[in-house]
Amino acid sequence: MLIRDGMVAAVGSSDEIAQQLPNDCEVVDARGRVVLPGFVDAHAHPVFGGNRVDEFEMRARGATYEEIAASGGGIRSTVRRTRAASEDELLQEAQKRARQILRCGTTTMEAKSGYGLTTNDEVKMLRVIRRLNETTPIEFVPTFLGAHAVPEEFSGRMIDYVELVANEMIPQVVRQGLAEYCDIFCERGYFDGAAARRILGAAKQAGLKLRMHADQLTNSGGASLSAELGAVTADHLEQTEGEGIAAMKAAGVQPVLLPGSVYALGKTRYPKAREMIEAGLAVVLATDFNPGSAPTPSIPMVLSLAATQTKMTPAEGVTAATINAAYSLGRGDRIGSLEVGKLANFCIFDCADYRELAYWFGIPQIESVYVRGLRVVCAGMGAPVT
Ligand code: NIG
Ligand code: FE
Repeated sequence: MLIRDGMVAAVGSSDEIAQQLPNDCEVVDARGRVVLPGFVDAHAHPVFGGNRVDEFEMRARGATYEEIAASGGGIRSTVRRTRAASEDELLQEAQKRARQILRCGTTTMEAKSGYGLTTNDEVKMLRVIRRLNETTPIEFVPTFLGAHAVPEEFSGRMIDYVELVANEMIPQVVRQGLAEYCDIFCERGYFDGAAARRILGAAKQAGLKLRMHADQLTNSGGASLSAELGAVTADHLEQTEGEGIAAMKAAGVQPVLLPGSVYALGKTRYPKAREMIEAGLAVVLATDFNPGSAPTPSIPMVLSLAATQTKMTPAEGVTAATINAAYSLGRGDRIGSLEVGKLANFCIFDCADYRELAYWFGIPQIESVYVRGLRVVCAGMGAPVT
């Protein structure tokens, strides 16, 4: 591969490339190793205050995610910590995470708001995402998720909160150019289909593209609703059946599967990835990186889970976390594969066969990571230079 000005200028055999080399070029020898496009993580919540390690222990002792949420914990507990943090504090925490994200081989990540749940705190989160873009090598794609949970002060008044999101938050976010996508957590106890129609309808009218948390804990027809509303993606889909799959196919919705959240919640029902692939859908795999249901930014871990728990082959997994994911973020022409004219975002792995990425789990195999042709992680030689 020949790289010029941060872009892929040529790909071919070593001999072909050698003939085109300028005299002053740097040569990186990746012989015997795997080179892949940087991972594109199309569903993540990387900005948040604090962590939920207490709830993690409660789940180990037998409590469920739903029980913890019902008693005031869960998303609401991260909302309290996120509201209490300043923009600079949130940025610092997220910058530290950005280094871990890069070390897992991810060079593009979607980033949702959704732990603020007031107009000011949602805007604060989206500003942090903007500043992450300015201060780290990762490209973060901003998604407004004001409808992540009904905040404490609106308890029992979901409809009033939905109107606040639609009438005040969405116009503010759009006016300030802070988001590309709008998302909603469509789930029993969170937001119902009517709320999704209202919020995603307003978002679409305001010019945002749509993503949706659908059918994660219960099947409420979320996949079919995502098709009806013209969403780009429907995410989670652990409970989705054939009907929802057919609706997504007919409407061109991409499924985003998040097996890391099933695993981390100690659940056993994984999404029907094989049926979705057989139906002809361009399946995406993502981490769902967040402090509650998926405390990992590791796509290699997700590739392992996709293979063992949902029977996706390693090749399907890599496709789902690179080129398919890039298209789901509207960036299929720029990233997600190593082709002439695309950004030179790539990883070199310390293994000889790409299937080893999914096969060995819990072992970092990253040797180095490049963004726009510049090395941003070098694990093979001491401390990463991120
Ligand atoms: O995708 N499902 C809703 N949102 C996240 C969980 C967020 C949290 O628990 O903090 C998810 O799993
Ligand atoms: Fe999520």
